[in-house]
Amino acid sequence: MNFIYRKKPITGHTDESGLKRALSATDLTLLGVGAIIGTGIFVLTGHAAATQSGPAVVLSFVVAGLACAFAALSYSELAASVGGCGSAYGYSYAAFGEFLAWIIAWDLILEYGVSVAAVANGWSGYFNNALTAIGIGLPDSLIRGPTELAWNSYLGGALEVIGFDPTAEAVVKGGMGGIINLPAVGIILLLMMLLIQGIKESAKVNAIAVAVKLVTIAIFIAVAAFNVQPANWSPFIPFGWFDHTADGKTIGVLAGASLVFFAYVGFDAVSTAVEEAHDPQRDVPIGILGSLVFCTVIYIIVSGLLTGIVPYGDLNVASPVAHALQLIGYNWASALVATGVIFGLTTVMLVLYYALTRIIVAVSRDGLLPHYFSAINPKTQTPVRTTVITGVFMAIMAGLTPLGVLAELVNIGTLTAFVIVCGGVISLRISHPDMHRPFKMPFGLLLPTLGVLSCGALIAFLPLITHIRFLLWLAAGLLIYFAYSIRHSNLARA
Ligand code: ALA
Repeated sequence: MNFIYRKKPITGHTDESGLKRALSATDLTLLGVGAIIGTGIFVLTGHAAATQSGPAVVLSFVVAGLACAFAALSYSELAASVGGCGSAYGYSYAAFGEFLAWIIAWDLILEYGVSVAAVANGWSGYFNNALTAIGIGLPDSLIRGPTELAWNSYLGGALEVIGFDPTAEAVVKGGMGGIINLPAVGIILLLMMLLIQGIKESAKVNAIAVAVKLVTIAIFIAVAAFNVQPANWSPFIPFGWFDHTADGKTIGVLAGASLVFFAYVGFDAVSTAVEEAHDPQRDVPIGILGSLVFCTVIYIIVSGLLTGIVPYGDLNVASPVAHALQLIGYNWASALVATGVIFGLTTVMLVLYYALTRIIVAVSRDGLLPHYFSAINPKTQTPVRTTVITGVFMAIMAGLTPLGVLAELVNIGTLTAFVIVCGGVISLRISHPDMHRPFKMPFGLLLPTLGVLSCGALIAFLPLITHIRFLLWLAAGLLIYFAYSIRHSNLARA
């Protein structure tokens, strides 16, 4: 089928986008850290420890981090050598052609868009807890959407996909059925206005929020380090490496790795800023690898300490890090950490939202989506239309749909994108062996091959229902491609 082979030429970076080159390597690393550390470490670690990995959740982080490292190296090689626009989408275009590029773009839209809505839901829970603490908590009907009951009755079993049993899910969501999740809607619309103003301004806000997030983590580490009870680490691997329970749940260190993988989602967002980096060939690899290494170290320390200060069985709650501090009697630290988490989740949403808009701009510029979406506002130099449209869409999604339903697809979508990116490196090494590669992975094809295998394995460890949902999403993407993109793309017109 010839559409598979329709490729854009591999070109270096161009300035045709109209976007402002305002980001340094430090900005990019902060962008990465801003996107990475969030719900994964602050919420999912506890669920994974309590239900899948036990204290060996540390190993789950190592396994997931390794898979991400292979993918990150692949991203870096492609970012430095292929350059161009729109992250993994741009690289896939060069390596595989238009069709697979569209598939990966569709994947990334899922990853970023749904992540933002999901994290907004988590943010809303923490935010309302803070309001409640000062006596102005919102009524139940305004912190959850109306569809939860329906979702729960039809899709209750699917909640397990992200490792929540229905009880834990109810805790995370704050209960059943309401009118709208108002704080979730509000935070997305606020971020929308920020992103319309421009990326440099957003990067400044991001840097401040990242600092707050890191201080929060430092407080936890400082307190927890002196309160470890080594007995809590025993048994270290209570659920084994991989198994199924009688009711079909996946358990074990590897299933835990598939779950806590969510904690790493976002480092690839750095690559979407390639058109706004001062020196993309140097800065983007530094941003990607720097933020990933930094976050991996933090995750290992935090998850190790968390399971060291309280028994892992106590961690299956909506805010395990703050909860554990409370359990060991540090209420002040718990309050500080909870406040920091609100900032932490904000930066995650900001960066993922930013990445989402840049992907859509790149795809639309190539004609795979209408050009309407790639218009850059001359005044703000930002894609205002796309920012507003996606913002409104995500706000509605976050306002009306529960966290579990939103979050379950994120991991599989991201892992699939990683598999394609690692495959892209292999393909380009073979098809363009002499291409200039300012950053090149050592050991030939070994590392990208390990990337394909490890990310593929993490996909396999996810429950079946996730695979089914993901296939439905892909089917929708195929429909759009064959109904619109294949005839309207720049290549088709050319
Ligand atoms: N990695 C991000 C988080 O954990 C998506 O919230």
